[in-house]
Amino acid sequence: MSDQDFLITVDGMKVRAKRGQTIISACDAAGVYIPRLCHHPDLKPAGHCRLCSCYIDGRRASACTMPAAPGMVVVSNNEELNNDRRVVLDMLFVEGNHFCPTCEKSGDCELQALAYRLGITAPSLTYQWPKREIDASHPDVFIDRNTCVLCSRCIRASRDVDGKSIFGFSGRGLGMRLNIDSETKLSDTSFAAIDKAAKVCPVGCIVIKRTGYRTPIGRRHFDKAPIGTDIEACEVGDPE
Ligand code: SF4
Ligand code: SF4
Ligand code: FES
Repeated sequence: MSDQDFLITVDGMKVRAKRGQTIISACDAAGVYIPRLCHHPDLKPAGHCRLCSCYIDGRRASACTMPAAPGMVVVSNNEELNNDRRVVLDMLFVEGNHFCPTCEKSGDCELQALAYRLGITAPSLTYQWPKREIDASHPDVFIDRNTCVLCSRCIRASRDVDGKSIFGFSGRGLGMRLNIDSETKLSDTSFAAIDKAAKVCPVGCIVIKRTGYRTPIGRRHFDKAPIGTDIEACEVGDPE
């Protein structure tokens, strides 16, 4: 371990962390998967979805925003936390319109994959069937708000990586929606299929046109292995 490294404990395991590193980043590097949806390793943390909520030194906090500190004790994988994650996922499913069997993202979708990992095959809450808009005006990308989970990845990517600030949220609570450049159409913006914001959506909301079903269902990322398996496959040496 270098002078900058220290140890934290996660679910009883010793995990090496560096100064300035968040708990989720330290865990990823150590091969310990904490469920997440709004977190993306290339984007600034936002702490929106609450899926990564853990007990950190006895208090609930988001592992994606909380910096690691020497000696911290983190609990992520217990029945109470996983039940709360199931409730959050249930709410995301019923607050949108998700028809997995016909969705282009099926098999590559982080929401769907998280539900499977946590043992959800159907939501236990009542579907709300909200009316959501589709924007297919752009020549290369379409937006299907029916599946948006308001994770803000596209907002952060467009603002912080692409330097365009094309996306934002409007409204509050159940009425919250993804907006484009203050209610305009996607085709009226400088959005491009090569933008980072076009590649970070965890669900089937931002989709590149003419790429659909290039990889057949059944051969996609999470068809092969549950979400988090890539992180858990990391080599973990003795941190001491
Ligand atoms: S976005 Fe994901 S959860 Fe929603 S319908 Fe598509 S595959 Fe299913
Ligand atoms: S469009 Fe995708 S990336 Fe953007 S907020 Fe909705 S789910 Fe997140
Ligand atoms: S992944 Fe931490 S709050 Fe969303």
